[in-house]
Amino acid sequence: MEQDESQSQQQVVVITGCSSGGIGNALARAFGGEKCLVVATARSLSSMADLDHDNPNYHLEELDVLSDQSVNELVSSVMEKFGRIDILVNNAGVQCVAPLAEIPLSELQHTFDTNVFGTIRMVQAVVPHMASRKKGKIVNMGSVIALGAGPWAGAYSGSKAALHSLTDTLRLELRPFGIDVINVVPGAIKSNIGNAAIANYSRMPEWILYKPFEEAIRKRAYFSQSSKSTPSEEFANKVVAAVLKKNPPAWFSSGQFSTIMAIMYHLPIFIKDFLLKKAMKC
Ligand SMILES: NC(=O)c1ccc[n+]([C@@H]2O[C@H](COP(=O)([O-])OP(=O)(O)OC[C@H]3O[C@@H](n4cnc5c(N)ncnc54)[C@H](OP(=O)(O)O)[C@@H]3O)[C@@H](O)[C@H]2O)c1
Repeated sequence: MEQDESQSQQQVVVITGCSSGGIGNALARAFGGEKCLVVATARSLSSMADLDHDNPNYHLEELDVLSDQSVNELVSSVMEKFGRIDILVNNAGVQCVAPLAEIPLSELQHTFDTNVFGTIRMVQAVVPHMASRKKGKIVNMGSVIALGAGPWAGAYSGSKAALHSLTDTLRLELRPFGIDVINVVPGAIKSNIGNAAIANYSRMPEWILYKPFEEAIRKRAYFSQSSKSTPSEEFANKVVAAVLKKNPPAWFSSGQFSTIMAIMYHLPIFIKDFLLKKAMKC
């Protein structure tokens, strides 16, 4: 272990998906601002170039949550350097827009691989270390979209609904080992998620039945990215304050649309369908 005395007092926070401009990057800054020792990870170091390399509170590592090898190497490296992981933030995720009746199954699978299996891969690698200390916090990044799934983003909303359910199970299963599990449920937050979804969309085939809906499908990618979206810094500061509490909440939702979507969840299906049809031009 290569840490000095001051580092041994800090909470070690591992965050996935910290590319600049996204929520993970804002979370890294917010945890760093609270004097945590942040292991910020992303698929490439260059995408986190804005995080201060010389700041001893930040430690940057490459990580692909789809790879067992990458995840195991990351966890071994953190354990070797810092001897513990206090908080794991499973933030890495991909949005996917496409009609479910025509989406290539490989794309549906990729969305679940990243958002669901990638998260559980991280959980399985980190939990033994947390359990041995009977201490730790795991933060999973859900989405308000799981509260009111509409058209064009079924792969994404399905993956987040699955993640919400798995998070509920993990919360109970990890309690005997002293590990808190927190479902963070963002509303619409400014990030790269729309551009990333459109880059992915350009690899989709031409739709057969859904050609007339092309514009609505493309627009769906940017639904969370309007001028009124919540800035990622504002969202991240609130998340970090909630997560660092002695007794963190099981559910933390914030950001544009978070209240509307919480209400939507309880609406009768015919009203929900009416509203979503209007909003998504379906
Ligand atoms: N923004 C919103 O309105 C919103 C709403 C609800 C939930 N969320 C959730 O918040 C989380 C962060 O999203 P964001 O809005 O900040 O989007 P973003 O800016 O696109 O960030 C997503 C991050 O995940 C990373 N990532 C993707 N696949 C990965 C993989 N296989 N391994 C490791 N990292 C990977 C991306 O890396 P690259 O840069 O290499 O692609 C990027 O760093 C996601 O889970 C998303 O579903 C966002």
